[in-house]
Amino acid sequence: MYTLSRRAFCIGQRTCHKSTIKTRWRPMLEPTNCVAIAYNSTPLMSMRPLHTDRQSPAGPIDLIPFYQKFISDNTKLVRDVPLVPEIRLRLITSDCELYRAGENELAVLRTEHNIEAPFWGFAWPGGATLARYIIDNPHTVKGKRVLDIGAGCGIVALACRLAGASHISVNDIDDCALASCEINAHVNNMEFDCFDSTNLIGGSIPEEIPWDVVLAGDICYDDEFASLAIAWLKQLAARGVDVVLGDPGRPYLPRTPDLHKIAEFDLSEAFIDENHGLSVGSLYRLKV
Ligand SMILES: C[S@@+](CC[C@H](N)C(=O)[O-])C[C@H]1O[C@@H](n2cnc3c(N)ncnc32)[C@H](O)[C@@H]1O
Repeated sequence: MYTLSRRAFCIGQRTCHKSTIKTRWRPMLEPTNCVAIAYNSTPLMSMRPLHTDRQSPAGPIDLIPFYQKFISDNTKLVRDVPLVPEIRLRLITSDCELYRAGENELAVLRTEHNIEAPFWGFAWPGGATLARYIIDNPHTVKGKRVLDIGAGCGIVALACRLAGASHISVNDIDDCALASCEINAHVNNMEFDCFDSTNLIGGSIPEEIPWDVVLAGDICYDDEFASLAIAWLKQLAARGVDVVLGDPGRPYLPRTPDLHKIAEFDLSEAFIDENHGLSVGSLYRLKV
């Protein structure tokens, strides 16, 4: 069983195109109360439809308005995102019912509403660290084509937009995460260029690589997946792509000499509390 160092754990298992990812989810502050999660109420904000070259396989596009409504109904707008106050995000805060969702509620969401454990509902410390680094070092992405892999709420991609990236693709196997990216772009008056739910990790590297920079925030939360992801990212780095990862010291970050630490940031108390004492967010560049 894998442990995800996050504030909540109900056991959930998701199967994606090529790999199986096991996660846990449990509210840290309160034990599992049964809550009625608001997926039927009125949206808080009106959403534009996705507008770009989505490459998702059949199906998800129709679900996007549903996901957007679910996110609007179950998140709050956060204006003081730790490490990146420049960015506003709709997140699951402690006063959202979804924050206290237990195993049963998440199972209902998964089986009846096609909604997986909402990783997109939080800004993860690895992603926030990476976003901070990008904003402070805009040359990393300025004028470049960027892929944010495992984008979640889109925090890294938003930082890239602020830093002047020329083309931004957000990739996440969870379509609800892509809807979250779209919403968070909207609340920051930004847009992304491509929303992609293809499971790229572990797949073959295209002959013509469409990205100059690939960024990964906090994706090493599971040992099997972390190894697969780093191996895939290494192939990109070997082909000349600039690959940068943000990680808060998770045990599954592979110990490879190809990962060169380029910066680190102290994490806020909130991050430390929510991540079992992990206190430093580190940035690594893959050089192979
Ligand atoms: C811990 S969250 C990090 C989200 C965001 N980068 C951040 O730092 O806030 C990891 C994300 O990776 C996504 N993910 C898991 N497996 C993936 C895969 N094979 N390809 C793309 N994304 C994946 C999950 O859906 C989740 O949104």
